[in-house]
Amino acid sequence: MFRSCVAAAVAALYVLAAPAMAADGEPVVIRFAHVVADDTPKGKGALLLKKLVEERLAGKVRVEVYPNSTLVGDAEEMQALFDNKVQLLAPSMSKFAPYTKKLQVFDLPFLFDDAEALQRFQKRDTARQLLRSMADYGVYGLAYWNNGLKQLSATTALRTPSDASGLAFRIQPSPVLEAQFAAVDATSVVLPFAKVYESLKAGVVQGAENPWSNILSQNMHSVQPYITESNHGVLDYMLITNNEFWLSMPFALRSELEGIILEVTQAVNREAAAVNQRDRERILASGSSQLITLTTEERQLWRDKMLPIWNAYEADIGADVIRAATTANRRR
Ligand code: LMR
Repeated sequence: MFRSCVAAAVAALYVLAAPAMAADGEPVVIRFAHVVADDTPKGKGALLLKKLVEERLAGKVRVEVYPNSTLVGDAEEMQALFDNKVQLLAPSMSKFAPYTKKLQVFDLPFLFDDAEALQRFQKRDTARQLLRSMADYGVYGLAYWNNGLKQLSATTALRTPSDASGLAFRIQPSPVLEAQFAAVDATSVVLPFAKVYESLKAGVVQGAENPWSNILSQNMHSVQPYITESNHGVLDYMLITNNEFWLSMPFALRSELEGIILEVTQAVNREAAAVNQRDRERILASGSSQLITLTTEERQLWRDKMLPIWNAYEADIGADVIRAATTANRRR
């Protein structure tokens, strides 16, 4: 037993230390690490990428997918990419906050009316430029992958903002998200995704915010008796790579890979809403959580409390970026 544990640890260290670029004649290995389950928009996207690469670039490229924080967790994954120990990540926008301020636009509460508005924004120039916001770190944004709108879950029913007062919510490492809960007199605790379920179960925090797919796949609903369908923000990802690694691939190979990534991105973003809808129904069918549907007036109360955050972060994000995002709410 001890020996097999040592062997597993040595193997894990080897995986982390192995160079990504292959020797002559060997396929290029791309390690894609993420923190969610396979059966989520991001997990499915990673597996589709692996499948298409197997079909079209066999012998030239091999994609290894590590879901559920099995290779690196969300606290270490960015450093692992900087060090080229992994070559693809798709962190949520909130995970970029320690590195760049502009991407905080995606965390602003009640910014996008719906997932379609987010998609419209992401096709426009302002958002295309934001894909370059990690350039100083040698990181290249390849695409936006959507998950879904976030819902509030808790141990008590959250109907109006005052219901959240005094509760502790798990957040991702984003000052905007901290401000969002402070605005309703709640506290927040930054926790890695892999620790959310057990922290909710142990009562370290009483609530969280997640899209339906993350709630279901982590079984969070089993420890959150109330889910408020707040749709108050988005959980979205940027597919990123290590620039030096990416450019080290021959141009033709890189172009083929980028074509596959475009195809996968379209599939992920086309299907994300349906995956979340499916998981919403599964959660409701499980009977574990009571669904709280807000009236227009109740939702407006949350919005009124949280909207001042846009102004507070305008200097960091840029008024032009916020304006471009809100403009996407109107169909053109
Ligand atoms: C979270 O930490 O809640 C999310 O970023 C997890 C994910 O990747 O969807």
